[in-house]
Amino acid sequence: MDDTQSRLTKDGIRLYEREDFAGMHTAGALAARILDEIAAAVYPGQTTAEIDRRIEEMVARAGATSATIGYKGYQHASCISVNHVVCHGIPGGKVLKDGDILNIDVTVIVDGWYGDSSRMYVAGKLSRKAERLIEVTHDALMVGIEAVKPGNTFGDIGAAIQNFVEGHRMSVVRDFCGHGLGRVFHAPPNVLHYGRPGTGAVLEEGMFFTIEPMVNLGRPETKVLADDWTAVTRDKSLSAQFEHSVGVTADGVDIFTLSPAGKFHPTY
Ligand code: MF3
Ligand code: CO
Ligand code: CO
Repeated sequence: MDDTQSRLTKDGIRLYEREDFAGMHTAGALAARILDEIAAAVYPGQTTAEIDRRIEEMVARAGATSATIGYKGYQHASCISVNHVVCHGIPGGKVLKDGDILNIDVTVIVDGWYGDSSRMYVAGKLSRKAERLIEVTHDALMVGIEAVKPGNTFGDIGAAIQNFVEGHRMSVVRDFCGHGLGRVFHAPPNVLHYGRPGTGAVLEEGMFFTIEPMVNLGRPETKVLADDWTAVTRDKSLSAQFEHSVGVTADGVDIFTLSPAGKFHPTY
């Protein structure tokens, strides 16, 4: 089915066809494999620019395209968000030091399909409070994914994540959200990581979107630095994020960006 014949819900959310899941799996698997392999490049003394350079090389070797290079003027194959950076950290000369935690976010395009995923990594030795934050953020994503099935709503996903995070006395970032994707990078709906059960659009088979909660140890407020990309916690508290690209199936969810090596969850 070409784009002119594509099905849209009343909320403007595209419904993809059964055969489209295969394209998303191929793109998602590449993003996941890159995130698996980049783990070896994360250690104290490393720069975020070098990590990004390796990611760009892996994308090219796979014959794929980076979705972020050239996106709204962004010039890198990844976002690398260290410690109190919430998201959209720009790779550069920053040298990782022992105990730093970082999110690496990669989006690739394979045969026109977008695979978008991010995970947490640690350089050197992890502190107990950072470990707790990473654990809760990972589990919050999974709790959100468990709410994905036809008939549930986007509010059910957000409420599940928010309840889980706030139950651990951490906070959910409101200023950034997940998004529809597929043949495009960012499409309706905005996938909020907070909300009330039963609200928002109803999930239907064939919807493709990301869930990518950002969780702060302190308050939820963020600000964007003068580079117009880097988002940080206003109170300088540590922040973490995990992201999967998923599709709604007839009776549940298909996760496109699962780690081939089972390494999505950080093993310390
Ligand atoms: N991958 C990010 C997301 O999860 C978007 C990054 S856009 C960039 O939606 F330009 F900052 F790379
Ligand atoms: Co995303
Ligand atoms: Co992403």
